[in-house]
Amino acid sequence: MTPTTSAPIASSEELRARESAHLTPGLQHFAILAGRAMAKGRGSKLWDVEGREYIDFIGGIGVNALGHCHPKYVKAIQDQAEKLTVGSFTSEPRVKLLELLAKVLPKHLSHLQLYSGGTEAVEAAMRLAKSHTKKWEFLSFWGGFHGKTMGTMAMMGTTAKQGLGPFPPGNLSAPYANCYRCPFKLKYPSCGMLCAEFARDAVKHQSAGALAAIVVEPMQGTAGNVIPPKEWLPALASIAKEFGALLIADEMITGFGRTGTMFASPELGVQPDIMTLGKGIASGFPLSALAARPEISGAKPYAAPSGSSSSYGGNPLAAAAALASVSTIVDEDLAANSRRQGEKFLTRLNEWKDKFPFVGEVRGKGLFLAMELVSDRETKAPLSKEKTEKLYQLGVAKGILSMSYAAAVRFQPALNITDDELSKGLDLLEETLTELSRSA
Ligand SMILES: Cc1ncc(COP(=O)(O)O)c(C=O)c1O
Repeated sequence: MTPTTSAPIASSEELRARESAHLTPGLQHFAILAGRAMAKGRGSKLWDVEGREYIDFIGGIGVNALGHCHPKYVKAIQDQAEKLTVGSFTSEPRVKLLELLAKVLPKHLSHLQLYSGGTEAVEAAMRLAKSHTKKWEFLSFWGGFHGKTMGTMAMMGTTAKQGLGPFPPGNLSAPYANCYRCPFKLKYPSCGMLCAEFARDAVKHQSAGALAAIVVEPMQGTAGNVIPPKEWLPALASIAKEFGALLIADEMITGFGRTGTMFASPELGVQPDIMTLGKGIASGFPLSALAARPEISGAKPYAAPSGSSSSYGGNPLAAAAALASVSTIVDEDLAANSRRQGEKFLTRLNEWKDKFPFVGEVRGKGLFLAMELVSDRETKAPLSKEKTEKLYQLGVAKGILSMSYAAAVRFQPALNITDDELSKGLDLLEETLTELSRSA
């Protein structure tokens, strides 16, 4: 029989083997490649079971707003766990959380519902959009990622959905404003935002006249922390209006200070009708949300009794965790730290663009940053999987965790990363790039 949980702490290798005996394959790529079992985290540092230290630039892919084990967060969860954890009766932490969220969100998004995961919140937003508009089509974008349930997978703009269909009908799609990899091979701004025109045409030609909403990441995360030009979101807002549809901004990753401001879509000039929220909202506790205009949020059947709710969404323990996360982001002004540290990060990335020929582009807003690794700057051909995975492994061996196993390397460290953690992580990353360049 396998040892019980009271067995002495085993090595990373042994724990991975024991886990793999029961866990289905398909873990997040960086966890598979690292092959390490983590034991402890503080701030932007992690230690594995062997006691090796790592600087964490992955940050749970944007989840870890507060850094590992922030004392206020730990205490709030401990305190609430002793009082009440289960159920959807009204509770003080939920009331306080909703009031705080209403304060930090754009004023018009005053009505919220709470869920457990990102995809669930986006599915709920789709239900609400259908309930309000009485229509059923959605426009989403190439490269987009909104989750892995059927409705959100239908909107997935990548090959990852292949083999998993059929999906619900009513999904229209158009290219995202990804200027580095423009599918029209044009250059901004001389392109005249052809992608926005194309999106309008896509609706005109593909729609059955039932567009309920445009669903968009204000900045695309999974596609490689892509930042669109300033005209993109306002153009989509006007297309939504033209077709009597809602604008849903999926701020799962961009929300709560990640891009240097509390939310990305108002900064990019739009007032979405619905916003979906997650990740940093609860810094690791599974809580997500949607926020909507009050005149939309009461639409039925979404708003019928038991229509908008779920078993775990906003239970007292989850609400206490999210309350601790959001109040700490506000009290410690972590959006400002994200801006400050993001600028330093980007300056360093720009130096690497000059230093390493395989760095094709760098970009970033706050602590939402990316570096494109290419084998040829002219053709922008992505650096091979073999090389990027090697880069990641070099980093793990040196003690830096970043999403460098793919050609579009993404960085989203904790919002409260310190100067020391940041410069140490960047030094280690530069060492790995230097080693890669020597072996390339
Ligand atoms: C923009 C966006 N929406 C939705 C999701 C899905 O969230 P979850 O994995 O919690 O279902 C993600 C996850 O990465 C995301 O980045």
